Amino acid sequence: MPKFSLLILPGDGIGPEVMTEVRRVIDWFIDKRNLGFDIIEDLVGGAAYDIYGTPLHDTTLAQAKAVDAVLLGAVGGPKYDDLDFDVKPERGLLRLRKELDLFANLRPAQCFDALSDFSSLKRDVVSGLDLLIVRELTSGVYFGEPRGIFTEGNERVGINTQRYTESEIERVAKAAFELAMQRNCRLCSMEKANVMESGVLWREVVTRVGADFPEVDLSHMYADAGAMQLTRQPKQFDVIVTDNLFGDLLSDLAAMLTGSLGMLPSASLGAPMDNGRPRALYEPVHGSAPDIAGQGLSNPMACILSFAMALRYSFKLDHEANRLEMAVQSVLADGLRTADLLGEDGTDSVSTAAMGDAILAQLNLSL
Ligand code: IPM
Ligand code: MG
Repeated sequence: MPKFSLLILPGDGIGPEVMTEVRRVIDWFIDKRNLGFDIIEDLVGGAAYDIYGTPLHDTTLAQAKAVDAVLLGAVGGPKYDDLDFDVKPERGLLRLRKELDLFANLRPAQCFDALSDFSSLKRDVVSGLDLLIVRELTSGVYFGEPRGIFTEGNERVGINTQRYTESEIERVAKAAFELAMQRNCRLCSMEKANVMESGVLWREVVTRVGADFPEVDLSHMYADAGAMQLTRQPKQFDVIVTDNLFGDLLSDLAAMLTGSLGMLPSASLGAPMDNGRPRALYEPVHGSAPDIAGQGLSNPMACILSFAMALRYSFKLDHEANRLEMAVQSVLADGLRTADLLGEDGTDSVSTAAMGDAILAQLNLSL
């Protein structure tokens, strides 16, 4: 078995506690499945700011560039709200995405059977839901120049710029078409071509890329209508491709359709490295949840499922990824719930570590 190198960045809030459970899962794969992992751990976000004075130290970035994959917990917290923009915890994450050029962000929204009553939508609207949002992650209004707060006359003006080059649209579109080919061959592209020139170009380029994928049924939607359709009839979608900002919004919306943000993993992929593996960062979609951090209440499943995505996309170990995903599903089917999956009344919930125990027990059964 080849050795895989992993950089683990637990980050802030509940990041460290969910990552503890991921470490146990990784150890299981090392012990029981003979997988070889070289693991380095470092700080990111507020945790890095506290020690290094920056949310992403240059040596951490260099390590991120050297490893096969990065696994990140979460960044941010109220303690850092008043920091300068440049050193806010979120800048650490954004810089990682940008410097590793992780342009394709895969955010699956899957409604686990055992959880379909937790959605705010009716059970039959969401049960069996399985869609994938592919969000462009390294350009658009998140990074476009000019940006800043400037003075014009006697008042200030805040500026951000939506900017997309053809090649930026092309590469993320291609990634989305390829993913659609591995799924149900349906791709819906979302922008605001009715209002934004960048949207007009987006639609044109996606359509052009589509000519190379005749098997894929391509459709286009304005992003606002897309949000509406996602809540009306989410099962009409297979893969959605959209820009950075719309993808941020639509993926939170899609996440909530499934009942809990605590369940959803993500993968951010870039161009292939010399070893043929894509540059990659895996992280749960949930944030740092400072209100519940340190109490053993958080759900480690999204982060564990993010590691499953690493097994699949970085290490091409589909079989092991399935094993881990099945273990998570079995634990849910057995009725185990962390507090986030119990709504108001968290009385019968299990702790973060107990959830980790249960997943390990299911993994043992899979042998
Ligand atoms: C996300 C988050 C980030 C984003 C923040 C933490 C910078 O909301 O990954 O969706 O806006 O991209
Ligand atoms: Mg977001």
